Amino acid sequence: MLSKKMVAALNEQIREELYSSYLYLSMSAHFSNIGLAGMANWMDVQQKEEKDHAMKFYNYLLSQGAEIKLLQLDEPPHTWKSPLEIFKAGLKHEQHITKCINNLVDIAEKEKDRATFNMLQWYIDEQVEEEENARTIIDKLNLIKADSNGLFMIDKELAARVYVPLIPAV
Ligand code: FEO
Repeated sequence: MLSKKMVAALNEQIREELYSSYLYLSMSAHFSNIGLAGMANWMDVQQKEEKDHAMKFYNYLLSQGAEIKLLQLDEPPHTWKSPLEIFKAGLKHEQHITKCINNLVDIAEKEKDRATFNMLQWYIDEQVEEEENARTIIDKLNLIKADSNGLFMIDKELAARVYVPLIPAV
């Protein structure tokens, strides 16, 4: 059985993941509005994956007979100065999420909660990938600077990202 503290922390993480989805959806809308359909697609895939991350926690809580308490979401920003600024904001956000996951691992370790500790390993790996994905795009955007041909090439590349639903693992 999960501790009250762990249930509260996991419910809070559902909020974090749903906010991530909200944030990336806002970024996707912005990219659509400025004519960068590939980047809009990339962010749309990202926002769908974030919902899966939330649902993985949700399913885990249910499997443990714990109470789900959906918390209020903040309003995400909706305008940015440049694609580079957007992906930098995405990386910063992922670094925050990595901290949240690490904090959950700390609680699980302190409470000797092996089941939650095991479940969290997937998120640890996922966060490495999330940060790496954002960093790779930032590096490319830094390389091209203000070159619009380069920007359209990156946009085309990001149009290829495909959403693959997360198989419920719990
Ligand atoms: Fe669910 Fe992007 O972390």
